[in-house]
Amino acid sequence: MRSIDLATTSERKVMDVPSDQPSPAAKAGEPAKMVARNVDAFFGKTQALKKVSLEVATNRVLAIIGPSGCGKSTFLRCLNRMHEVASGTMKGTITLDGQNILQIDEVNLRRRVGMVFQKPNPFPTMSIFDNVAAGLRFNGHHNRKHLAEVVERCLRQAALWDEVKDSLNKSGMSISGGQQQRLCIARTLAVSPEVVLMDEPASALDPLSTAKIEELIYELKQNYTIAIVTHNMQQAARVSDMTAFFYLGELIEIGETKRIFTTPEKRQTEDYITGRFG
Ligand SMILES: Nc1ncnc2c1ncn2[C@@H]1O[C@H](COP(=O)(O)OP(=O)(O)OP(=O)(O)O)[C@@H](O)[C@H]1O
Ligand SMILES: [Mg+2]
Repeated sequence: MRSIDLATTSERKVMDVPSDQPSPAAKAGEPAKMVARNVDAFFGKTQALKKVSLEVATNRVLAIIGPSGCGKSTFLRCLNRMHEVASGTMKGTITLDGQNILQIDEVNLRRRVGMVFQKPNPFPTMSIFDNVAAGLRFNGHHNRKHLAEVVERCLRQAALWDEVKDSLNKSGMSISGGQQQRLCIARTLAVSPEVVLMDEPASALDPLSTAKIEELIYELKQNYTIAIVTHNMQQAARVSDMTAFFYLGELIEIGETKRIFTTPEKRQTEDYITGRFG
């Protein structure tokens, strides 16, 4: 038996929670939706990610937390190869349903792995309806009835339908910031993604809109796998099943959200979540 008396407070916490505790996904025996192995990411010679290995569990919400500049957005962008678009380079392997993402056509990959950005970015010249329908039209769907059905379904899923159903022809820019963000989520959902990446989706929103986005994330995980970057610890604790803590480009720790926020294994994680740095 180990002597608890010799342990520091944080060591004692670690003893209470074995590090090999299976993740919720592992318990269900479900394979991970996305797997990153030894991912290095660079901007020119600057290394933004160092040997990051983690799994994004199917139909779960993964929160990615860590101080500014630690590589959270870069990691999200690696997952759908947007990092390359920002002139970045990557080493290591990322798979989607077991297939290397480099072997998936980029357009198809970004349809399957959709992204919602920090700042709402509706297409400025398009109506609310056309914003949601844009991806479908791009993929060759032009049947008006089919488009109308998908637009309504996605606006309902994004908890925006009731607020805009009588003004679908108004500009996507004519609604509030919180509504625009839900419009962008509806636009992302319209092309039936399997994974939704969200980079600080609520950071520019008021508490009511933030609550709506959080409820929405909870609903969406029934059908989608979600990875969300957030600086808001309470938000990470509320919405996610798993939490990954990044620091200086490295993954320091990943585990069930409840454990990360109550009994982190690493000193840096503990310091960050208790507000001692970052
Ligand atoms: N376009 C770019 N060109 C060069 N370096 C970049 C670029 N974008 C990010 N970086 C660098 O890569 C590192 C990781 O940046 P990243 O944007 O991923 O951090 P982050 O964790 O998302 O930060 P924040 O919380 O501020 O959004 C940082 O050192 C940053 O300066
Ligand atoms: Mg960022």
